[in-house]
Amino acid sequence: MDCTAVILAAGKGVRMRSELPKVLHRVAGKPVVQYIVEAVKGAGVQSITLVVGHGREKVTHSLAGQDLNFVVQEEQLGTGHALMQAADQIDPAHTLLVLAGDTPLLRQETLTRIIDFHTSEQAYATVLTCEFEHPYGYGRVIRDIDGSFSRIVEEKDASPEERAVKEINSGIYCFQAGAALAALSKIKASNAQGEYYLTDVLEILKKEGKKVLPLMLEAEEDIYGVNDRVQLAYAEKIMRQRKNRALMQNGVTLVDPDSIYIDDAVEIGPDTIILPNTMIEGKTVIGSNCEIGPNTRINDSQLGNGVTVESSRVKEAIVGDKCTIGPFAYLRPEANLAAGVKVGDFVEIKKSQIGEGSKVPHLAYVGDAIVGKEVNIGAGTITCNYDGRQKSQTILEDGVFIGSNTNLVAPVTIGQNSITGAGSTISRNVPPETLAVERAEQKHLKKRK
Ligand code: UD1
Ligand code: CA
Repeated sequence: MDCTAVILAAGKGVRMRSELPKVLHRVAGKPVVQYIVEAVKGAGVQSITLVVGHGREKVTHSLAGQDLNFVVQEEQLGTGHALMQAADQIDPAHTLLVLAGDTPLLRQETLTRIIDFHTSEQAYATVLTCEFEHPYGYGRVIRDIDGSFSRIVEEKDASPEERAVKEINSGIYCFQAGAALAALSKIKASNAQGEYYLTDVLEILKKEGKKVLPLMLEAEEDIYGVNDRVQLAYAEKIMRQRKNRALMQNGVTLVDPDSIYIDDAVEIGPDTIILPNTMIEGKTVIGSNCEIGPNTRINDSQLGNGVTVESSRVKEAIVGDKCTIGPFAYLRPEANLAAGVKVGDFVEIKKSQIGEGSKVPHLAYVGDAIVGKEVNIGAGTITCNYDGRQKSQTILEDGVFIGSNTNLVAPVTIGQNSITGAGSTISRNVPPETLAVERAEQKHLKKRK
């Protein structure tokens, strides 16, 4: 399909009351404008240009590496003016899809529908419309007596009769690109807001006798715009419901979906069960047959198959198949657990590899460590990895048994199959197959009367 899309995203978004450009506010973990880009790509449009202005460095940075073109609108003089800035990017022979950057609930099916309708009708312009019970603030679609399109009038320019019209302009259009560009050069800013209105292009085309068609949508969700934080929260709610539904349809059990928050980019395998009060965020991937939650927060992590995580925090970690985590564990960035590892209650693991089948069952801190296979780390063990100046590494070779309440003063290595006595502070390397004990001899003194 020869189609070019232009996404208008230069506006301030004043009502967000934010330092962050409106289109970068997140819905289910993703910037609002990212959803538009994905829907447009999903509809098969290859050439995509974004018109940026307010906070443009942040917007272009957020969308970097996605094969998009950016043009800058220095001053925001209206939607028509915004489109003009992209004129050089538009092939006049193409179909031109124009849309705003602030409608995160827009689905690719809806875009496919307008593009297909526009193409099969051989229209010069098609505008997606919808009937709103409360149309306040939107441009109204004014039709002729025969029902055909006449023009779009903005709230601020509308007469009382026009304001009573419930059919609104979604701000999503398809054009014959060459005709739209020609009409664009004719629009004027002679209106209540002194702006160049893109909507005037449709009126010009219509007056030239060209086919301009409204395509009315039944569902208004798709064109729901985010202009303030209340609307942001609504979009968030709808997006999460969609995500939860999609996961359930793919074989994931969500026990009480209303209390489960899963970001749009998260992937979860079938027959995994998610229990209440659980948040799964960022680019997390979870395998099949896992049980996650209740009361768990996981972000940007990879979990294998058959993993259990209960009442725990997992952050930027890798967890192998059949590991059991928690309750009350904290896996921090670069925790990397092989298969069958157990991390129990009140255990914190940071930047450490834990080998297959090893266990850290209770009350321990493991940081900057390399732990071999089948190692057992007793309760209360601490890797003393930081001397106030630098971090040092602890190495526990395969089969090591660390007695309860051991301090491992890094850098230190415990050789294969060695044991440390409970309560020892180990500050020198221990050779393989050795029992290392460091503690004062127990004395028995006579009790004073
Ligand atoms: C626009 C439409 C209105 C429609 C509504 C749907 C016009 C004149 N009006 O109104 O009929 O019902 O959208 O939401 O087009 N933008 C720029 N540069 C600008 C101005 C806007 O890039 O100079 C961008 C904004 O960032 C936003 C989009 O265009 O993403 C729409 O702008 P906005 O100011 O929200 O238009 P509305 O007044 O809501
Ligand atoms: Ca708007």
